Amino acid sequence: MEKDMDNLEVHTKELWDARSVKWAARDSEDEAARQQNEARYQYTDDFLWSHHLYDGNSEILDIGCGLGMFAVRFAQKAKRVTGLDISGKMLEYARQSVELNGLQNVDFIDMPWQDIDLRKSGLEKAYDLVFASLCPGISSDGGLLKMSQASRDWCFTCHFARRFSSLKNDVYLSILGHPFDSEWGKKSIGKSVEELLRAGYYPSLSYYDTQALVEWPLDEETAKHFAGHLGPLKDEQKYIDKYTGPVFDYLKKVAVNGLIRDETEAKIAFLYWQVT
Ligand SMILES: C[S@@+](CC[C@H](N)C(=O)[O-])C[C@H]1O[C@@H](n2cnc3c(N)ncnc32)[C@H](O)[C@@H]1O
Repeated sequence: MEKDMDNLEVHTKELWDARSVKWAARDSEDEAARQQNEARYQYTDDFLWSHHLYDGNSEILDIGCGLGMFAVRFAQKAKRVTGLDISGKMLEYARQSVELNGLQNVDFIDMPWQDIDLRKSGLEKAYDLVFASLCPGISSDGGLLKMSQASRDWCFTCHFARRFSSLKNDVYLSILGHPFDSEWGKKSIGKSVEELLRAGYYPSLSYYDTQALVEWPLDEETAKHFAGHLGPLKDEQKYIDKYTGPVFDYLKKVAVNGLIRDETEAKIAFLYWQVT
C-alpha cells in the first residue's frame, strides 16, 4: 500500500497538496508501490462493475479523487465522472491524467467535501454512484450521509480495517516501547455501519487483502518517513524533528546491504449501500 498514507485522520489542504507531489514522484519511481496501487484500483473497479454499482450510462462522483486514478478508469467506461478533492495540486495531476488519456467526460470540483452545499450546487441526487476511496473527508460529521444525498442509486466507500508494516511495528517498539495499532481502522468502520443502519440504509461489507515486501533504502528520507509516523499526521513535522536521529540509528542496525526489509499487509473494507 502507499508508503506514506498511514493515518487518515487529518485532512488539511496543505497536507494533501504536499502529498500529491510525493505520490506523483513515487508512482513514476517506485515500481513495487505503483504495481500495488494498480492492483488495488483494478480490483476495486472490477468489484464495482461486477456488482452493478455502475455501468456505461452512469454518472459518478469520486470524492477525494487524488491523482485521478479511479476517475480516469471510471470515465473510460461510464457516461460522466466528477472528481472532487480538497487539494488543488492533486487535481492538477488528475487533470493531466485525464488529458493524457484523451477523456472529455470528466470535470473536477476543488473543494473539501464538508464545504460543498449540495442543494445550492444542484448536486442532490445528481449521481448514480457516489464513490469515496480512502478519503478522510467523509469521516467528518455528516460526511457519510451526505454521500447518500448526492446519490440517486449507489454509494461506495472503502477504508483500511487493518494495516500492518513489520518495519513500522519494529520502529514503534524500539522508539516508543509499544507496537503500532494496526487495527485502528476497525473502529471507524463500525461507526460507519452503525450510522448508515440508523439512517435507514442496509450497507454491505466486503474485504480486499493485499501484501507486499517493500525494501527501503537506508537514508535520511526513510528515517524521516518513519519518524513522522510515530504520532498523528497533523504533528508529522514535530515527530520528524524529534525522532529522525534515533530512528536512523535503529535503521542502521537492521539494514542489510543498505536496504531494510518491510513486510506489509493491509485489509481494506468495502462498504456499499443503495439509497433507493
Ligand atoms: C488517501 S488519498 C486517496 C486517493 C484515492 N481516492 C485512492 O484511493 O487512491 C485521500 C484523498 O482525499 C483527499 N481529501 C482529504 N480530505 C478531503 C476532504 N475533506 N474533502 C475532499 N477530499 C479530501 C486528499 O486530498 C487525497 O487526494
